[in-house]
Amino acid sequence: MSERKLLIAMAKGRIMEDALPLLAQAGITPAEDLKKSRKLIVDTSDPGVGLVIIRASDVPTYVGYGAADLGITGKDVLMEYAGNDLYEPLDLGIARCRLAVAGPVGAAPATDRLRVATKYPNITRRYFAARGIQAEVIKLYGSMELAPLVGLADKIVDLVDTGNTLKANGLVAEETICDISSRLIVNKAAMKIRHARIQHLIEVLRTAVAGAGSSAA
Ligand code: ATP
Ligand code: PRP
Repeated sequence: MSERKLLIAMAKGRIMEDALPLLAQAGITPAEDLKKSRKLIVDTSDPGVGLVIIRASDVPTYVGYGAADLGITGKDVLMEYAGNDLYEPLDLGIARCRLAVAGPVGAAPATDRLRVATKYPNITRRYFAARGIQAEVIKLYGSMELAPLVGLADKIVDLVDTGNTLKANGLVAEETICDISSRLIVNKAAMKIRHARIQHLIEVLRTAVAGAGSSAA
């Protein structure tokens, strides 16, 4: 009996753009132009590997339930995810940014009784609770930078790269919660059942990441 394909859940957008060159070095190129294609399941040059193209925040769910064997998504998304059904064997070193607390320029630093708007309620609650700060967390799905400008929240917890988005909205990063990059994740059961194939893929990607790091240096 032939084994079924390994399925990799790929976060579309900027992560996919950075991940495709790494996959190419591992001998995996999509059979379609992903910029043009509307297909959600895509064959690759490796007959044993397929891609599913989904939102970054859905990647852990697909992999956690075993609908995909592996996934590629941001550490921010993984920190927010509540399940413990994943391994995270490889930092791909792509889509680098940081998760930060930000507020209006000149505002008082985070103290008690704070309203914080974020796409990351779990991370935000944990972060302020660990500092003994009572924070009311308001869940948003995007454009967090708007919240302090119109009085919805005192602070935001959001991703910062160049800082341009914060600056354009009169905000400034006050504290870094952690550095972010994208990770390879693996379903725990798949790792047992399809161990040799998955381990091989991890190792070729590890080599590709090491090569990308040394050529960037
Ligand atoms: P979702 O589809 O989950 O709502 P999104 O539409 O915000 O996410 P992106 O903005 O492409 O999608 O972000 C996906 C991931 O890319 C983030 O989870 C993070 O890991 C990384 N990322 C986001 N913004 C940046 C940035 N400015 N610089 C580098 N990496 C980033
Ligand atoms: C991300 C993130 C920040 C911005 C930070 O947004 O949510 O708003 O990048 O990057 P910067 O510090 O370089 O400005 P993105 O550009 O992905 O837009 P979206 O999440 O609102 O779609």
